[in-house]
Amino acid sequence: MKRKHILLSAVLFPAVMAFAQQYGGMWIPTELNEKEMKDLGMKISAKQIFDPSKPSIKDAVVQFNGGCTAEIISPQGLLLTNHHCGYGQIQKHSTVKNDYLTDGFWAKDMNGELPNPGVTVDFIADIKEVTAEVLAGTKNLDEKSSENLIAKNIENVKSGFKLEPWQKLVIKPVYYGNKYYAYLIETYKDIRLVGAPPSSIGKFGSDTDNWVWPRHTGDFSMFRIYADKDNKPAEYSKDNVPYKPKYFLPVSLKDKQEDDFTFVFGFPGRTTEYLPAIAVEQVMKETDPAMIAVREVALKTLNEKMRADNETRIKYASKYASVANYWKKWIGEVEGLEKSDAVGKKKSYEQSLIAKNPQIKPTIDGLNSLYKEQSPYALNKAYYTETVRNAETFTLANYFYNYLQAAESGKLDEKTTENFKTRLAGIYQNYDGELDAKVTAQLLALYANKTQPKFLPEGFDRYKNEAQNISAIEELSKNSVITGRGNINGATTYSDINKVFADQNALVANLKKDPLMKLFSSFRESYMNTTDKQFTDLQDQIDVLQKKFMAQQMETDKNRTFFPDANSTLRVTYGKVKGSNPRDAVYYGYQTHIAGIMEKYVPGDYEFDVPKKLVQLYNTKDYGIYKDKTGDVPVNFTATNHTTGGNSGSPTLDANGNLIGLNFDRQWEGTMSDINFDPRFSRNIMVDTKYILFIIDKYADAKWLINEMKIVK
Ligand code: ARG
Ligand code: GLU
Repeated sequence: MKRKHILLSAVLFPAVMAFAQQYGGMWIPTELNEKEMKDLGMKISAKQIFDPSKPSIKDAVVQFNGGCTAEIISPQGLLLTNHHCGYGQIQKHSTVKNDYLTDGFWAKDMNGELPNPGVTVDFIADIKEVTAEVLAGTKNLDEKSSENLIAKNIENVKSGFKLEPWQKLVIKPVYYGNKYYAYLIETYKDIRLVGAPPSSIGKFGSDTDNWVWPRHTGDFSMFRIYADKDNKPAEYSKDNVPYKPKYFLPVSLKDKQEDDFTFVFGFPGRTTEYLPAIAVEQVMKETDPAMIAVREVALKTLNEKMRADNETRIKYASKYASVANYWKKWIGEVEGLEKSDAVGKKKSYEQSLIAKNPQIKPTIDGLNSLYKEQSPYALNKAYYTETVRNAETFTLANYFYNYLQAAESGKLDEKTTENFKTRLAGIYQNYDGELDAKVTAQLLALYANKTQPKFLPEGFDRYKNEAQNISAIEELSKNSVITGRGNINGATTYSDINKVFADQNALVANLKKDPLMKLFSSFRESYMNTTDKQFTDLQDQIDVLQKKFMAQQMETDKNRTFFPDANSTLRVTYGKVKGSNPRDAVYYGYQTHIAGIMEKYVPGDYEFDVPKKLVQLYNTKDYGIYKDKTGDVPVNFTATNHTTGGNSGSPTLDANGNLIGLNFDRQWEGTMSDINFDPRFSRNIMVDTKYILFIIDKYADAKWLINEMKIVK
């Protein structure tokens, strides 16, 4: 049976369907499937990818500012990451006069590079499995005692490492606590902006094209790591010098072919590949649709005003993009889970496990009943969290609620107050009270209509009507400090947030009688009392069983090579350059070109405008050495690498370990890969290095940067 299954897969998906990688895979770099990678075409060894004692590729891959990935591409510490990863820094250096977001930025030389206080890059100096040490003595303990001992053991392991001042040791569980790994991390802190294309290249296609293939985005930006004169990490100083890396990636200009071997090296954030069928079914049928529904309402209302009013468009651009990003991803995820029959597959997988090992049955039964019990709470949690996130009047009220709690329990020191002020000021900066009142009114109605009565505060029925909510919210907001309309000692949160917070007693007294706060408190407290605690208690029980289920899957399914779910640690995923067949009679090629940018070109459009100079280069076909055999410059390409959020900016390497692309997205028919990777539909999207170099050279005329790199022709 098993053999037949493998043969059939090999016929349907030759080359893609490898044995270990058939479920996707984000592998710990010290435990690579070297043989399979070589069978798929890799020419280098696993040691060349990760070697703690000799320079290896891992020395060129860093976590960028705690979220994205970046890689070193020159002996002078030149860093490449996505435009959307450097967006905040590019924005901070932008003014109306020097609008780097719109026009791009290119330092003329190293003196022109711009410092970014607070930005960090993390190197992984070493990885060690420490399961035996962390789990020592826990075998026969109950949950609570085991947790305590684990915490103690972790501290012990940590104290056994001698650390330099710039190093830290982080220990993380994988396989739901069945294994533990220690990461030795070195952090550099002087990171300067070197270059970024205009948004009409770096963000071309914006939200419309986000998560979508075919794609034509030059999603890259460049930074440089600086170090002290001993090449060690240091705070920003003009005396710092460019960092000399142990290793940097050669950049390839070779043409790509379908089926070429590739691997992606980076820091994927979070996946859940080993859930029981029932959990996947809940995501697909309940929680994802709930979160989509809330965001849909918010986006529609924002969009109407953003389209009609330029000021609103700018104010809400970044917020809208972030709400839309996961809204769109979840829609793709639900479709993909359905289409790949994730639940059906998981169910039959569970049956096959039980057939081999009857002890798994009670675990799965237990999970089934816990998930069933948790389901109404999970659904309400989804509605609640998304409502508070997207109705900004409630987001603000939530901060003030926490402030009140802290004040009343005597926990308000200066630092906490400063924190509240900074967070709140950040929200007010781009908050349009009138517009948000509409969103809040609608989301409140959605919540009142979609939530079981037992989860609603008393009298909440009256909020079922959107139109009535608008006047109700208006009435409640009129004199409220929360919405910035009421004042404390003559100051509002808009006019002088420092003054509002200066008189703590007045602020507390004011908030306590604020009618908007009363509404929000009843909303929040009934959620906390009826849902949050129940959800968490059940989740704790699920976690215990999930740990067991994970261990049992690994013991029982000997044919499968397991990889741990992503947890923001360094991983390698591999696959092949490949197009796809996402729907009946629809075929996606694996690669796009500049001609495709011009097909999408809408002059003056905020998503699809093309900079004049790029149009010129296209018209004159001034492509130099960057064109491929078609005569055009390749822009983006897809492959079967299993990636997720956090892999943005990750290097894509070829069989020889040369850089061929920069990961930045997935195609949305395959975004269920966070839960159920399917090699037929799951594709990562990368910027071609040819396009990156073309933009640096021909568009930005920044040859000095190319001269630093090692180009492989
Ligand atoms: N979808 C990509 C990711 O999850 C890109 C997001 C940035 N781009 C955008 N248009 N919002 O991060
Ligand atoms: N754009 C995503 C990021 O920021 C990567 C896309 C994905 O989720 O695969 O990490």
